[in-house]
Amino acid sequence: MGPVTIEHVSESVAATSAKSEQTERGAGERGSRPGQGLFSADWLDVHFEACRDEYEAMLRTIGLQPGWRVLDIGCGSGSFLPLLAELVGAGGALVALDAAAENIAAAARRLEAAPIECALRLDLGSLEGLPYERASFDAVWCANVIQYFPDRAVPRLIEEMRRVVRPGGLVAIKDVDMTLFRVEPMDPFLITHLSEASLRDEDFGAWSQGSLRGRSLRRRLEDGGLTNVWQRTSVIERWAPLRPVERRLWGDWLAFLAGAAQERAVGEKDRALWRNMLDADDKANPLNDPRFYASEGQVIAVGSRPPDDDP
Ligand SMILES: C[S@@+](CC[C@H](N)C(=O)[O-])C[C@H]1O[C@@H](n2cnc3c(N)ncnc32)[C@H](O)[C@@H]1O
Repeated sequence: MGPVTIEHVSESVAATSAKSEQTERGAGERGSRPGQGLFSADWLDVHFEACRDEYEAMLRTIGLQPGWRVLDIGCGSGSFLPLLAELVGAGGALVALDAAAENIAAAARRLEAAPIECALRLDLGSLEGLPYERASFDAVWCANVIQYFPDRAVPRLIEEMRRVVRPGGLVAIKDVDMTLFRVEPMDPFLITHLSEASLRDEDFGAWSQGSLRGRSLRRRLEDGGLTNVWQRTSVIERWAPLRPVERRLWGDWLAFLAGAAQERAVGEKDRALWRNMLDADDKANPLNDPRFYASEGQVIAVGSRPPDDDP
């Protein structure tokens, strides 16, 4: 195994996302600013470990080839980097970019602890203005990032991704689809009501759009001029008894949503039911029901930059 090469942690691009629209307007009380709340390395690691089999299976389907140079946009704590490295092989190269310095540091620690074979660079920067020349990569992988942006931002983000891949190169996006989020035993309309109230909320609506947009990604890549576009949706399901990391994930998910419900315009009956989920150890929390079931939906959409696109 070759040495890990962390050539450069770029400070040249300010963490513009710290002030970006999706993070400012969509932060919510638990925080979704780079490095915090749903973006914190701790949350990302728990989420990845609890869904590792499905997440890695999704990445294996996108068509990465040995020897490719791949950009991981919004790499977080670097959970996908070991498998990306395996897929491009020792002759490939990875660049991982994130807007949160804390997450870049967490990714660096991960790779120092478990070296990968290919060349790697970690960059601090924003998807809203990728600090790379046109056609710099064979593919970009962007997992769980676009979902935090409002609908109106998406065309520009796809344009950025298309710009930095070579003609014929791949743009691959993975996002959640909260319409497939389900917990039992729980009133199935609780999540619908919360989504609806969140969409209408002045401060939260833009962020909420992204969580409901997953299954429109195919059309959005087509609208962005990509070809050979395909999309696949996976439903990740878990049943009690949960592994500790799964209990942590679903406990955190429910507490996050329950916290949001206390602030949004859902009815008082809904709010009271959500209150049971603020604490994972609450006996009335569905997490503690022996018949507990949970699902979350994840969408992969992949397209190619047209081969005759001006590089
Ligand atoms: C939910 S995490 C996903 C991390 C990783 N891709 C994964 O799936 O485990 C979203 C990541 O995107 C980063 N991020 C948010 N806005 C960004 C932007 N404008 N440009 C680049 N990264 C951004 C956050 O700091 C965070 O690390």
